[in-house]
Amino acid sequence: MSIRLTRSRRLSSVLDAVGNTPLIRLERVAASAPGVEVYVKLEFMNPGGSVKDRPAMRMMLDAIKDGRLTQDRVLIDSTSGNTGVAYSLMGAALGYRVQLVMPSNVTKARKDITQAFGTELIYSDPMEGSDGAIRLVREIVAKNPDRYFYPDQYSNPSNPLAHYLGTGREIWEQTGGRVTHFVTGIGTSGTVMGTGRRLKDYRRDIEIWAVEPDDALHGLEGLKHMASSLVPAIYHPDELNGVIAMPTEEAWDVSDRLAKEEGLLVGHSSGGSLAGGMRLARQLAAAHRPGVVVTLFPDRADRYFEAPIQKQQPPPAYTEDTATSG
Ligand SMILES: Cc1ncc(COP(=O)(O)O)c(C=O)c1O
Repeated sequence: MSIRLTRSRRLSSVLDAVGNTPLIRLERVAASAPGVEVYVKLEFMNPGGSVKDRPAMRMMLDAIKDGRLTQDRVLIDSTSGNTGVAYSLMGAALGYRVQLVMPSNVTKARKDITQAFGTELIYSDPMEGSDGAIRLVREIVAKNPDRYFYPDQYSNPSNPLAHYLGTGREIWEQTGGRVTHFVTGIGTSGTVMGTGRRLKDYRRDIEIWAVEPDDALHGLEGLKHMASSLVPAIYHPDELNGVIAMPTEEAWDVSDRLAKEEGLLVGHSSGGSLAGGMRLARQLAAAHRPGVVVTLFPDRADRYFEAPIQKQQPPPAYTEDTATSG
């Protein structure tokens, strides 16, 4: 089935709009690797604006099916942002209450988006980053386990499974089985683990590479520097062909080029994924080997922009004074 046909389906709910994202070929930014085809999967085309719609939906549907998520429980989890938007959207669409723990310094836009869906926010220490949010949500759930459904995206097998069932199969079909390399950034590692497993089931010699920030202090939101982080239980580096340590500057430069040369305004983790993919593509080109390198763009850059216009101050409340003074 062509992508055009897939995306023009008439859908019965927002849930059906998750997945089947476009795969596009990059010509200009990939020109430094002649003879190698470079493709990107546009995960920002999901209805919540990021790749995270896939695991959030799978984790919720699997939990509803086996009774871990019921109407009298609150879904609670920690999130750096995109998963929170995805839970919020799914919670609204499926009719479940959602609470999110996030570092208090996440952007105002993130807070506004999740709250717009009716989600309640709990803030963790900004100095402790995403690991601090994980620790706090664990404390809250431990105190009151019957009240919550805690999907725990870092340990939940439904997270990589979403990519095994969706992303991996789609990439195989969209490349007509020609994909030779898949490269993407790691946060929870759900994307690289699940997609990688599916592609290796199709053909063992497809190479699967992860990209991680090269330093604990980095500017690649959504990605984790594993050596200095709580390592996700779903992360199994032994299943990968390798991990590329990505400097922030290299990823940011690629993001800038994507906007100016390809018309793709993507987040910095997308720049990191493609920067990693381009390293592999250039190695192939230097060895005069053909290849079909696929990378993945988790979200768009405008998700990280602060709202340019502040909410207007509400007019003063009506009192006898305001009624007579003007
Ligand atoms: C912007 C962004 N990039 C990349 C990732 C990494 O995806 P995964 O958690 O599947 O490893 C995430 C996930 O949190 C993300 O939000």
